[in-house]
Amino acid sequence: MSLIDKLDHNRLPAHLAIIMDGNGRWAKARGLDRSEGHREGVEAIRRVVKAASAASVQYLTLYAFSTENWCRPPDEVNGLMDLMVYALTRETAELKKNGVSVISIGNLERLPAQVRESLEDCIRETAGGKKLTLVIALSYSSKWELTEATRQISRDVKSGLLQLEEISEEILGNYLTTRSLPDPDLLIRTGGEQRISNFLLWQCAYAEFYFTDTFWPDFNEEELYKAILDYQQRERRFGRISEQIEFEQ
Ligand code: IPE
Ligand code: IPE
Ligand code: MG
Repeated sequence: MSLIDKLDHNRLPAHLAIIMDGNGRWAKARGLDRSEGHREGVEAIRRVVKAASAASVQYLTLYAFSTENWCRPPDEVNGLMDLMVYALTRETAELKKNGVSVISIGNLERLPAQVRESLEDCIRETAGGKKLTLVIALSYSSKWELTEATRQISRDVKSGLLQLEEISEEILGNYLTTRSLPDPDLLIRTGGEQRISNFLLWQCAYAEFYFTDTFWPDFNEEELYKAILDYQQRERRFGRISEQIEFEQ
């Protein structure tokens, strides 16, 4: 029996975010080049998108490349960019068929033109998919995003479009790249590290965290469902006390 049958369908995370880590170590453990780990990581993405969709998750955000990842050796960065083009081109038709709409967050201006084009094609082709929204975080970091938002807010205040007194948590949220998305309910990080690496700092203010030692290329459907089951055991109190939560249920 698959763990999917054990999920409580009334308590699913609407938004699941994943820090896909451990590709390099997966490859190293097999005496392979790091690029092989990244290639295998794409297969894990295929599995997890399907599995999340099967579990009726509505939003899946995948951290594919961080602002800090630009500092990796040029060969690895170039290899990752080529892999993005390959994966986006290969997967678009299947994503569309399965009702997955792709959007992206991040500083896309830094991406090579070819990556940007294949990403834009994929976003355009898959627009309107109703089953799952797949958010690809590419050249993304929270500090970049918050800096950009601060800049834009300042511009709008200066030009009179926004009043200083109007700035609230909700308004600030509207200046972030995630403005059309609910906050993540569950954040999974594979690969054994227990850190957030500049990912969705504002948005994860009340996310539940789940860490696993499994390297990303080994992550699969059952591991995903295991994480969701773990999430379903937790009590999300949002600052209140248990009795208040029980009363509302
Ligand atoms: C995650 O795997 C993929 C990216 C960050 C692009 P890593 O490449 O970070 O793999 P490890 O952490 O070195 O094993
Ligand atoms: C985080 O992984 C970024 C992505 C998964 C895209 P890293 O492997 O770059 O994280 P750090 O730098 O080790 O924290
Ligand atoms: Mg890593």
